[in-house]
Amino acid sequence: MNQSPILIIGKNGKTGSRVNAHLQALGYSTRPVSRSTTPSFDWENSATWRSAIEGTRAAYVTYQPDLAVPNAEATIKEFVRVAADAGLEHIVLLSGRGEQGAQRAEQILKACGISWNIVRASWFAQNFSESFMLEGILAGELVLPAGDTVEPFIDADDIAHVAVAALTEPGHRNKLFEVTGPRAMTFAQCIEEISAALGRPVKYTSVPVDSYMNALREAGVPEDLQWLLHELFTVVFDGRNCKVMSGVEEVLGRPATDFKTYVQKTIESGVWTSVMQKKSA
Ligand SMILES: NC(=O)c1ccc[n+]([C@@H]2O[C@H](COP(=O)([O-])OP(=O)(O)OC[C@H]3O[C@@H](n4cnc5c(N)ncnc54)[C@H](OP(=O)(O)O)[C@@H]3O)[C@@H](O)[C@H]2O)c1
Repeated sequence: MNQSPILIIGKNGKTGSRVNAHLQALGYSTRPVSRSTTPSFDWENSATWRSAIEGTRAAYVTYQPDLAVPNAEATIKEFVRVAADAGLEHIVLLSGRGEQGAQRAEQILKACGISWNIVRASWFAQNFSESFMLEGILAGELVLPAGDTVEPFIDADDIAHVAVAALTEPGHRNKLFEVTGPRAMTFAQCIEEISAALGRPVKYTSVPVDSYMNALREAGVPEDLQWLLHELFTVVFDGRNCKVMSGVEEVLGRPATDFKTYVQKTIESGVWTSVMQKKSA
């Protein structure tokens, strides 16, 4: 077996951290990188890429901030060129559904000559606990311009297991896996389930996109994040991604994890309660 490490771009990320943990548990050597590691890897500084890649055989790649942003296509083009030149043999790219920018990046990867997998994922359940929606849940109200759109939220652990299979089992090579959770749910349903399981009131409030953007501006949210959230809520959340897909089952031979299981795990982790306890202490 080739013993050189597997590169993970996005060490501390929602999926990168899990891919790293699963690979290490299986006994694989890994090189998890981000801007804060040595060697470092910064998507905004291509001079950091080669030394992060050199000596690794395969890579799990999460792009920042999102493949939907306008410069992602050029950056991914340059990245695969450097990766091929540095001798990388296999790339597993995390992609998103219904985003033109993500599809352009997927095409670049498929055509670059390195063996590939694409894990095209729905919205992560972990956005409720490890990302911008956590604050709303802790405050008791999640305010979003998402209306009644349904989304089959996927558990990031499922994404990580699919990515690990793609990285370590050659039979999956050169395939795209569209991975979603098993149930398409509205944000209101998700919040209802979280609130019921937590045993404390949390509500979902849907607002027009313009008021949401005004609130982001007033809160000083960086402009590139504002652009991204606007794109997500006006383009990607128009209902195009409501379909449940079978990628998890195809790769892992078991159904995708249900939102209820995610909620139970998250309650056990304490992330939805620790801040409340600190406040009342
Ligand atoms: N969230 C979703 O629902 C969803 C759905 C489908 C697809 N995706 C895709 O998932 C990808 C993100 O993956 P993820 O959610 O696993 O990661 P993540 O949680 O967003 O990763 C966060 C980490 O990325 C690192 N980072 C930030 N800027 C960076 C930069 N310029 N260069 C290198 N590292 C940087 C940071 O670590 P340091 O501070 O140490 O650098 C940070 O801890 C995006 O491409 C997104 O489009 C997300």
